[in-house]
Amino acid sequence: MTAAHREAAGGPGCGRRPAFGAALAAALALAAAYTLALGLRRHEAAASHQQPTPEAWFVAPTPTSALLVKAGRALFLSSCAHCHGADATGDEGPDLHGEEASDRYIATIINRGIKGEMPSFRKKLGAADIVKLTAYLRSLPVGP
Ligand code: HEC
Repeated sequence: MTAAHREAAGGPGCGRRPAFGAALAAALALAAAYTLALGLRRHEAAASHQQPTPEAWFVAPTPTSALLVKAGRALFLSSCAHCHGADATGDEGPDLHGEEASDRYIATIINRGIKGEMPSFRKKLGAADIVKLTAYLRSLPVGP
């Protein structure tokens, strides 16, 4: 290789160098932006993993109204009656008249279910449904 050849060979290479530098800078900037975006997304994911505890589903009971009881009865008939009886006097599941458990406990049972006994209704019933169901249970007559 002669000096001229070397110059000819090196020439274009030297000419490409600034372009290569710019490309590298752009790539680094892109990588930095990507890392930042990833970090933000990870932060978001962490926040969304702060799942509500079943208790967070609990809505303080609203005053029982005839409308709530009626809606609760409809929910009871479709979701609960086949185990607790159409009139909630019990079948496979216990009689729910005069239920002494707190509203919060009832909400937790409906939400979580009872292992091996009663299914969880977490996916089917929301907090508003639980309020209705509780209103219905509270409306059941107690006594001889
Ligand atoms: C697959 C049958 C089944 C279904 C469906 C079911 N339950 Fe139950 N439930 C049970 C059984 C069985 C128990 C009693 C478990 C035990 O005491 O160990 C129970 C217990 C309960 C208790 C607690 C009673 C107590 O004082 O210990 C409540 C409240 C209750 N169910 C409400 C409901 C409501 C409301 C629904 C509908 C959203 C429902 N259940 C649907 C079977 C069922």
